[in-house]
Amino acid sequence: MQRFDGARETTATTHDAAAGHENAHAAGASAAPRRSRRGVLLGGAATLASGAAGMALGYRFRTEIRDVKLRAMAWPLEVPAEMDAFRIEAARIETARAQQTADDVRTLKKRYETEVFGRVRMSDLVERLALCIDPSDRRLFCGSQLLHAHQVYAAMQANGVADPDMLLLGLIHDLGKILLLAHEAPESVVGVTSRIVGGEPGAGLDGAIYQFGHGEFLYSRIVGLVPEHVAWVTRWHNIDPAVEAELMTPQERTWTERWLVPFQRFDGGFVSPYYLPKVDLARCRDLVERAFPSPVVV
Ligand SMILES: [Fe+2]
Ligand SMILES: [Fe+2]
Repeated sequence: MQRFDGARETTATTHDAAAGHENAHAAGASAAPRRSRRGVLLGGAATLASGAAGMALGYRFRTEIRDVKLRAMAWPLEVPAEMDAFRIEAARIETARAQQTADDVRTLKKRYETEVFGRVRMSDLVERLALCIDPSDRRLFCGSQLLHAHQVYAAMQANGVADPDMLLLGLIHDLGKILLLAHEAPESVVGVTSRIVGGEPGAGLDGAIYQFGHGEFLYSRIVGLVPEHVAWVTRWHNIDPAVEAELMTPQERTWTERWLVPFQRFDGGFVSPYYLPKVDLARCRDLVERAFPSPVVV
């Protein structure tokens, strides 16, 4: 076991940052004054091209690059094996979710016919999302689902959304991920909702078997307690509307246009580990309390 060496750690970190600046200065200073104009242009083009390629590669492999940097900064300390395992686990979850069968859906629906968390205030449940990390979300990483809900809510407010149903959707749509705290396998909770089998044109999404996940779980708890369109969007918030449109009833098409598509813009457009939204917590709580004035059996 390596011992922590504060001085070494500090030096290594500082050196790392400073080395980049030194190299940049050296490159600038060595630009030869006697190069031909054509040479300079070609050189410039090549530099730009390699710079763009480097940026593209850097973007593509940004998490891997971050992992290497972190390990270098920690050296010579031991690094827990799971330190950079997020994307590996995320990929495993995606693969496992894609293999969910119609039988799995039946089993999962049966499992959650009975209560999991008992009678709870939905506003308390929303706040428990602070404990909930989606291990498949490679855009939010270790940000909590409460952070995500607040990001969506704040983005709506910043864009002039005042409709309480839409704001409510921002806060509650991922509440079903609370199943992660009940030790359900993540592949049965997170990720998108895709059709497994069945369905007829115009007969409604309910006529097909879709993957079980957080949308379906939350829907089963709030249907009948909120307006129909709110329950419907909750259930289907992570489908691909363009792919599923042909199965929808005319009512579902109307809800898709009026609610689902605008909602998805906010749900998908503001996921970031760097965006710390400013929200009025009391107003958020009040909004959820108004929608669910009594405890709900979850
Ligand atoms: Fe979701
Ligand atoms: Fe979401």
